[in-house]
Amino acid sequence: MSDDLDGLREETLAALRVAQDHAAWDAVRVGTLGKSGRLTLLLKELGRMDPETRRQRGQALNRLRDELTAAVERRGEEIAAAALDARLHAERVDVTMPPPQTESGLLHPIMRTIDEMTAIFGAMGFSVAEGPDIESQWHNFSALNTPDHHPARTEHDTFYLPPAVEGGPERVLRTQTSGVQIRTMLTREPPFRIIAPGRTYRADHDATHSPMFHQCEGLVIEKGVTLGHLKGCLIEFLRAFFGKPQLPVRFRASYFPFTEPSMEVDIGWSRQTGEIGGGMDWLEVLGSGMVHPRVLANCGLDPAEWQGFAFGMGIERLTMLKHGIPDLRSFYESDLRWLRHYGFPALSAVSLAEGV
Ligand code: DAH
Repeated sequence: MSDDLDGLREETLAALRVAQDHAAWDAVRVGTLGKSGRLTLLLKELGRMDPETRRQRGQALNRLRDELTAAVERRGEEIAAAALDARLHAERVDVTMPPPQTESGLLHPIMRTIDEMTAIFGAMGFSVAEGPDIESQWHNFSALNTPDHHPARTEHDTFYLPPAVEGGPERVLRTQTSGVQIRTMLTREPPFRIIAPGRTYRADHDATHSPMFHQCEGLVIEKGVTLGHLKGCLIEFLRAFFGKPQLPVRFRASYFPFTEPSMEVDIGWSRQTGEIGGGMDWLEVLGSGMVHPRVLANCGLDPAEWQGFAFGMGIERLTMLKHGIPDLRSFYESDLRWLRHYGFPALSAVSLAEGV
């Protein structure tokens, strides 16, 4: 090989060794093998040579081109591999590093209780139903066997709203979630099991009453459902909710317009210490009963064919008992210190039997 080709070869190989990144490597490639590269220009000069020189020089140039092409490719691959390595190293995630501190919100205890109720009743085959906060008097009272001058209407301290249309019926802020029973019976084919957690309103305000509060309604409509099913279902729920498998539960005859017979449900607790399940005292926690035949009929169900039981409970009340929260009003004051103390991380799972 002639001296000038040797020189070109050595220079190119040296420049390739020095090239550390794609741009430097590409400059060497173009400078030697590109359209106006040094080797390409030498190949172009061949045409002006006499045949014998052209043959010899051509062979040498072709060999050199093959050699340098291969060297350029190899170096290109090395540089690409090194770049990938560097990236993998730089982007590696160190799983032992503490995560950056982020402010995360907390679930209000009311939300948590609704989630727990949904989980426990969900496991018993209940789904969640909803109804509007602004309700017709028919859904809130009449269909629930509470006619116009029934004392329960005044006992509820109802908020009345003007009619939706001129001359229409007065509406109410629902005083109970029981109206969702009516809506569900009117729209769903029985059999079904639903709970309906939601906001309710009564004109009442002190340490244990708020004008807005939450209830959770329950309704089961099935053929052959009995008081025994009602009792089993509510005992199961209360024991799971309070996380006490032995929690004493007592059913006490009572009266609600929409159930017959009606029962209030008490749990064992200690008046002295407030301990749920301990002591010799009873605490009322919810109302329940077998759906009144007139209510079934109001919703187009034949009471000779369908049976049902219903229950309703105050969500704040159960939440206060479970977590030892003393004052109802604190639920709605939006005090962040209170929420940080009583709130729940949004991702903490609800188990079916809390604490069991
Ligand atoms: N709606 C009742 C209340 O607000 C609670 C209640 C009692 C609901 C008995 C029911 C029931 O479904 O069967 O006090």
